[in-house]
Amino acid sequence: MFAEKLGKQLGRPTRSVAGWLVSKFLTVRNAALEESLVQISGIQPEDTVLELGHGPGLGLQSAAKLLTAPTGHLIGVDYSVYMHQMASEQIKELVASGKVTLHHCDVAAMPLVDSTVDRVFHCNCYYFWPDLKKGASEIHRVMKPGGLMVTGLRLSHIAAFAAKRIMPGENWRPEAYMTALRDSGFTDVRMEDKQHTHLTFQAIYATASK
Ligand SMILES: C[S@@+](CC[C@H](N)C(=O)[O-])C[C@H]1O[C@@H](n2cnc3c(N)ncnc32)[C@H](O)[C@@H]1O
Repeated sequence: MFAEKLGKQLGRPTRSVAGWLVSKFLTVRNAALEESLVQISGIQPEDTVLELGHGPGLGLQSAAKLLTAPTGHLIGVDYSVYMHQMASEQIKELVASGKVTLHHCDVAAMPLVDSTVDRVFHCNCYYFWPDLKKGASEIHRVMKPGGLMVTGLRLSHIAAFAAKRIMPGENWRPEAYMTALRDSGFTDVRMEDKQHTHLTFQAIYATASK
Protein backbone atom coordinates (compact mmCIF):
# COMPACT_ATOMS: atom_id res chain seq x y z
CA MET A 1 0.00 0.00 0.00
CA PHE A 2 2.78 2.45 1.01
CA ALA A 3 4.87 1.37 -1.98
CA GLU A 4 1.96 1.93 -4.36
CA LYS A 5 1.28 5.41 -2.93
CA LEU A 6 4.96 6.37 -3.13
CA GLY A 7 5.16 5.09 -6.70
CA LYS A 8 2.14 7.21 -7.68
CA GLN A 9 3.64 10.33 -6.15
CA LEU A 10 7.03 9.73 -7.77
CA GLY A 11 5.31 9.20 -11.12
CA ARG A 12 3.12 12.31 -10.85
CA PRO A 13 3.52 14.38 -7.67
CA THR A 14 0.37 16.13 -6.46
CA ARG A 15 0.03 19.25 -4.29
CA SER A 16 -0.27 17.39 -0.96
CA VAL A 17 1.90 16.47 2.01
CA ALA A 18 3.06 13.33 0.18
CA GLY A 19 3.75 15.29 -3.02
CA TRP A 20 5.72 17.92 -1.08
CA LEU A 21 7.82 15.22 0.60
CA VAL A 22 8.48 13.60 -2.79
CA SER A 23 9.53 16.97 -4.23
CA LYS A 24 12.06 17.37 -1.38
CA PHE A 25 13.27 13.81 -1.92
CA LEU A 26 13.77 14.47 -5.65
CA THR A 27 15.57 17.75 -4.97
CA VAL A 28 18.03 16.22 -2.51
CA ARG A 29 18.50 12.83 -4.10
CA ASN A 30 18.57 13.66 -7.81
CA ALA A 31 20.29 17.04 -7.98
CA ALA A 32 23.69 15.51 -8.74
CA LEU A 33 22.26 13.15 -11.38
CA GLU A 34 20.39 15.97 -13.14
CA GLU A 35 23.52 18.15 -13.10
CA SER A 36 25.77 15.33 -14.35
CA LEU A 37 23.35 14.41 -17.11
CA VAL A 38 23.24 18.00 -18.35
CA GLN A 39 27.04 18.10 -18.37
CA ILE A 40 27.34 14.95 -20.52
CA SER A 41 24.52 15.88 -22.91
CA GLY A 42 26.83 17.90 -25.17
CA ILE A 43 24.52 20.93 -25.12
CA GLN A 44 25.73 23.71 -27.44
CA PRO A 45 25.05 27.40 -26.67
CA GLU A 46 22.68 27.84 -29.64
CA ASP A 47 20.71 24.58 -29.21
CA THR A 48 17.02 24.03 -28.65
CA VAL A 49 16.97 21.63 -25.70
CA LEU A 50 14.05 19.71 -24.20
CA GLU A 51 13.83 18.17 -20.70
CA LEU A 52 11.10 15.58 -20.13
CA GLY A 53 9.62 15.11 -16.65
CA HIS A 54 11.69 17.91 -15.13
CA GLY A 55 10.11 17.61 -11.66
CA PRO A 56 11.16 20.46 -9.32
CA GLY A 57 13.39 21.96 -12.04
CA LEU A 58 17.02 21.29 -11.10
CA GLY A 59 18.06 20.08 -14.55
CA LEU A 60 16.35 23.05 -16.16
CA GLN A 61 18.46 25.45 -14.12
CA SER A 62 21.70 23.68 -15.09
CA ALA A 63 20.84 23.41 -18.79
CA ALA A 64 19.75 27.05 -19.07
CA LYS A 65 23.24 28.16 -17.99
CA LEU A 66 24.76 26.43 -21.03
CA LEU A 67 22.45 28.09 -23.58
CA THR A 68 24.38 31.34 -23.79
CA ALA A 69 23.73 32.17 -27.48
CA PRO A 70 20.69 34.39 -28.23
CA THR A 71 19.06 31.51 -30.14
CA GLY A 72 19.64 28.99 -27.33
CA HIS A 73 16.24 27.89 -26.02
CA LEU A 74 15.14 25.46 -23.33
CA ILE A 75 11.78 23.66 -23.16
CA GLY A 76 10.51 21.62 -20.23
CA VAL A 77 7.48 19.33 -20.07
CA ASP A 78 5.87 17.68 -17.07
CA TYR A 79 2.31 16.42 -16.65
CA SER A 80 2.18 17.03 -12.90
CA VAL A 81 0.44 20.37 -12.27
CA TYR A 82 2.35 20.64 -9.00
CA MET A 83 5.78 20.10 -10.62
CA HIS A 84 4.91 22.42 -13.51
CA GLN A 85 4.03 25.17 -11.02
CA MET A 86 7.04 24.49 -8.77
CA ALA A 87 9.53 24.61 -11.66
CA SER A 88 7.80 27.70 -13.13
CA GLU A 89 8.30 29.47 -9.80
CA GLN A 90 11.93 28.28 -9.41
CA ILE A 91 12.97 29.71 -12.78
CA LYS A 92 10.45 32.50 -13.23
CA GLU A 93 13.04 35.01 -14.50
CA LEU A 94 14.17 32.59 -17.23
CA VAL A 95 10.55 31.95 -18.23
CA ALA A 96 9.75 35.69 -18.22
CA SER A 97 12.77 36.42 -20.42
CA GLY A 98 11.64 33.82 -22.97
CA LYS A 99 14.81 31.71 -22.53
CA VAL A 100 12.75 28.84 -21.13
CA THR A 101 9.26 27.61 -22.04
CA LEU A 102 7.48 25.14 -19.77
CA HIS A 103 4.55 23.04 -20.96
CA HIS A 104 2.14 21.21 -18.69
CA CYS A 105 1.59 18.15 -20.87
CA ASP A 106 2.18 14.44 -21.38
CA VAL A 107 5.42 13.31 -23.01
CA ALA A 108 3.23 11.31 -25.39
CA ALA A 109 1.51 14.48 -26.75
CA MET A 110 3.76 17.54 -26.70
CA PRO A 111 2.69 20.88 -28.24
CA LEU A 112 5.94 21.10 -30.23
CA VAL A 113 6.53 21.41 -33.95
CA ASP A 114 8.09 18.45 -35.83
CA SER A 115 11.90 18.30 -36.11
CA THR A 116 12.69 21.38 -34.00
CA VAL A 117 14.69 20.06 -31.01
CA ASP A 118 18.47 19.48 -31.05
CA ARG A 119 18.83 17.66 -27.72
CA VAL A 120 16.56 15.89 -25.27
CA PHE A 121 17.49 14.82 -21.77
CA HIS A 122 15.55 13.21 -18.96
CA CYS A 123 16.20 11.59 -15.57
CA ASN A 124 14.06 9.05 -13.75
CA CYS A 125 11.09 9.58 -15.98
CA TYR A 126 10.41 6.86 -18.57
CA TYR A 127 9.62 4.20 -15.90
CA PHE A 128 6.28 5.87 -15.34
CA TRP A 129 5.09 6.08 -18.95
CA PRO A 130 2.22 3.66 -19.61
CA ASP A 131 3.26 3.25 -23.26
CA LEU A 132 7.01 3.53 -23.94
CA LYS A 133 6.55 3.33 -27.72
CA LYS A 134 4.14 6.30 -27.73
CA GLY A 135 6.56 8.36 -25.66
CA ALA A 136 9.61 7.39 -27.76
CA SER A 137 7.76 8.10 -31.04
CA GLU A 138 6.72 11.53 -29.82
CA ILE A 139 10.30 12.37 -28.79
CA HIS A 140 11.49 11.22 -32.22
CA ARG A 141 8.85 13.38 -33.95
CA VAL A 142 10.00 16.62 -32.30
CA MET A 143 13.73 16.01 -32.73
CA LYS A 144 15.83 17.31 -35.60
CA PRO A 145 17.49 14.67 -37.79
CA GLY A 146 20.69 13.58 -36.05
CA GLY A 147 19.60 15.07 -32.70
CA LEU A 148 20.82 13.36 -29.52
CA MET A 149 18.68 12.09 -26.66
CA VAL A 150 20.24 11.17 -23.30
CA THR A 151 18.51 9.49 -20.36
CA GLY A 152 20.04 9.34 -16.88
CA LEU A 153 19.38 6.68 -14.25
CA ARG A 154 20.99 4.79 -11.40
CA LEU A 155 20.16 1.23 -12.26
CA SER A 156 20.81 -0.28 -8.81
CA HIS A 157 18.46 2.25 -7.19
CA ILE A 158 15.74 1.67 -9.77
CA ALA A 159 16.02 -2.11 -9.50
CA ALA A 160 15.67 -1.81 -5.70
CA PHE A 161 12.57 0.37 -6.11
CA ALA A 162 11.11 -2.13 -8.60
CA ALA A 163 11.75 -5.03 -6.21
CA LYS A 164 9.71 -3.18 -3.58
CA ARG A 165 6.97 -2.64 -6.20
CA ILE A 166 7.37 1.14 -6.04
CA MET A 167 8.01 1.10 -9.78
CA PRO A 168 5.00 -0.39 -11.55
CA GLY A 169 5.32 -3.15 -14.19
CA GLU A 170 8.43 -3.82 -16.25
CA ASN A 171 8.84 -0.46 -18.00
CA TRP A 172 11.66 0.46 -15.62
CA ARG A 173 13.98 -1.99 -17.38
CA PRO A 174 16.40 -0.12 -19.67
CA GLU A 175 16.00 -2.85 -22.32
CA ALA A 176 12.27 -2.07 -22.59
CA TYR A 177 12.95 1.61 -23.20
CA MET A 178 15.83 0.93 -25.59
CA THR A 179 13.62 -1.37 -27.65
CA ALA A 180 10.92 1.32 -27.83
CA LEU A 181 13.54 3.85 -28.97
CA ARG A 182 14.80 1.55 -31.74
CA ASP A 183 11.23 0.77 -32.84
CA SER A 184 10.55 4.52 -33.07
CA GLY A 185 13.42 5.31 -35.44
CA PHE A 186 16.31 6.03 -33.09
CA THR A 187 19.69 4.56 -33.97
CA ASP A 188 22.96 4.02 -32.10
CA VAL A 189 20.89 3.24 -28.98
CA ARG A 190 23.20 2.19 -26.17
CA MET A 191 23.63 2.33 -22.41
CA GLU A 192 26.94 3.35 -20.84
CA ASP A 193 28.23 3.45 -17.27
CA LYS A 194 29.25 6.98 -16.39
CA GLN A 195 31.34 8.58 -13.71
CA HIS A 196 30.91 12.33 -13.33
CA THR A 197 32.45 14.13 -10.36
CA HIS A 198 31.61 11.77 -7.45
CA LEU A 199 28.56 10.14 -9.07
CA THR A 200 28.29 6.77 -10.84
CA PHE A 201 25.23 6.34 -13.03
CA GLN A 202 23.96 4.95 -16.34
CA ALA A 203 23.22 6.97 -19.48
CA ILE A 204 21.11 5.74 -22.39
CA TYR A 205 22.03 7.49 -25.65
CA ALA A 206 19.93 7.52 -28.82
CA THR A 207 20.25 9.41 -32.11
CA ALA A 208 17.11 10.56 -33.94
CA SER A 209 17.66 9.21 -37.44
CA LYS A 210 15.23 10.56 -40.07
C1 LIG B 1 10.51 10.63 -10.39
S1 LIG B 1 10.13 12.22 -11.01
C2 LIG B 1 11.74 12.74 -11.59
C3 LIG B 1 11.91 14.21 -11.62
C4 LIG B 1 13.31 14.68 -12.00
N1 LIG B 1 13.59 14.43 -13.38
C5 LIG B 1 14.34 14.00 -11.13
O1 LIG B 1 15.09 13.14 -11.60
O2 LIG B 1 14.37 14.32 -9.94
C6 LIG B 1 9.27 11.90 -12.52
C7 LIG B 1 8.73 13.18 -13.15
O3 LIG B 1 8.30 12.87 -14.48
C8 LIG B 1 6.98 13.37 -14.65
N2 LIG B 1 6.32 12.46 -15.62
C9 LIG B 1 6.15 11.12 -15.50
N3 LIG B 1 5.51 10.63 -16.58
C10 LIG B 1 5.26 11.69 -17.40
C11 LIG B 1 4.62 11.81 -18.66
N4 LIG B 1 4.09 10.76 -19.30
N5 LIG B 1 4.53 13.04 -19.21
C12 LIG B 1 5.07 14.13 -18.57
N6 LIG B 1 5.68 14.07 -17.37
C13 LIG B 1 5.79 12.86 -16.79
C14 LIG B 1 6.35 13.35 -13.27
O4 LIG B 1 5.26 14.22 -13.14
C15 LIG B 1 7.53 13.73 -12.39
O5 LIG B 1 7.67 15.13 -12.23
